[in-house]
Amino acid sequence: MILVTGATGTTGRHLVAQLIERGAAFRTLVRDEARGRALGADHVVGDFDDPASLAAAMDGIDRVFLASPGAQAVAGEQPMVRWERNVIDAARDAGVRYVVKLSTLNAGVGRPMSEGGHGAIEEHLKSSGLEWTMLQAGPFMQNFLTPTASLSDEHGNLVGPAGQAPAAFVDAHDIAASAAALLTGEPHHGRSYVITGPEAIGYRQVAAKLSKGRGEPVGFVGESGETLVRRLRGYGLPDAAAEGLASLYDAMGAGAYGQVSDAVERLTGTAPRDFDAFMAANTKSFGALT
Ligand SMILES: NC(=O)c1ccc[n+]([C@@H]2O[C@H](COP(=O)([O-])OP(=O)(O)OC[C@H]3O[C@@H](n4cnc5c(N)ncnc54)[C@H](OP(=O)(O)O)[C@@H]3O)[C@@H](O)[C@H]2O)c1
Repeated sequence: MILVTGATGTTGRHLVAQLIERGAAFRTLVRDEARGRALGADHVVGDFDDPASLAAAMDGIDRVFLASPGAQAVAGEQPMVRWERNVIDAARDAGVRYVVKLSTLNAGVGRPMSEGGHGAIEEHLKSSGLEWTMLQAGPFMQNFLTPTASLSDEHGNLVGPAGQAPAAFVDAHDIAASAAALLTGEPHHGRSYVITGPEAIGYRQVAAKLSKGRGEPVGFVGESGETLVRRLRGYGLPDAAAEGLASLYDAMGAGAYGQVSDAVERLTGTAPRDFDAFMAANTKSFGALT
């Protein structure tokens, strides 16, 4: 029996749908009873900050999909580290065999924001005695579904790193497909897979694709890390968080997320969606494509 954490999230929702399609035996861990019921699968209510609820959720479980929210704008250790350590410890104590962890490309101890958080969690999982596989995902295509302050300005322009290096965006659908293959097949213990889309594209190209989808021009505004820090401080973010995010921004603009991997196709037998296919699968958000 599989336990899916982060089941109501961007990746988790796809994973739940795909596990249902496969007829896999699984339950979800959710914070909210109604949201769990809406997923249409067996569920248990619990919280990453409540170890007793995690222990109860592990009853009868032998495989876990581990996903929690990304980096928070806080100074000091990322909350994701505490949350995911709690799940790993509960899994170990309950005799779970295998954990598939949603991580990030460039994860590493001491690195900024989510990269550092995932680095610390990966180390904890590796030393837990559990079998594990890391899915080190590139930047999600879904980030463009929610035009937050960091992705669009007041004129609707896409805002991104000034550096023009392309990034290998991935559809969370394909991260979920990779996880589903691992969770329902033979464990790939000790393997870390970089999970990306089939190509690397720059923000300017993304803006052009969004223009086509929306049927109106979407411009691109390149912003340096330095400008981003000022903007984020203006929103009241702690310095460490603003500077951490800006350094990731600069790194992305310089090509740190440009690596293209064939892992999705190797794990699932199907090529990952490119950005056009992602938009076509999300026409409600992007408008009809012509
Ligand atoms: N976005 C990117 O570009 C990107 C790239 C690489 C890696 N990642 C990594 O992907 C992960 C996020 O994945 P995602 O976007 O699929 O997830 P998400 O949409 O952020 O959803 C987070 C999930 O965690 C659950 N959750 C939050 N707090 C909880 C708690 N205290 N106890 C139990 N459950 C809790 C949420 O449930 P509720 O419904 O109750 O809120 C939700 O299901 C992060 O680790 C991030 O670093 C992201």
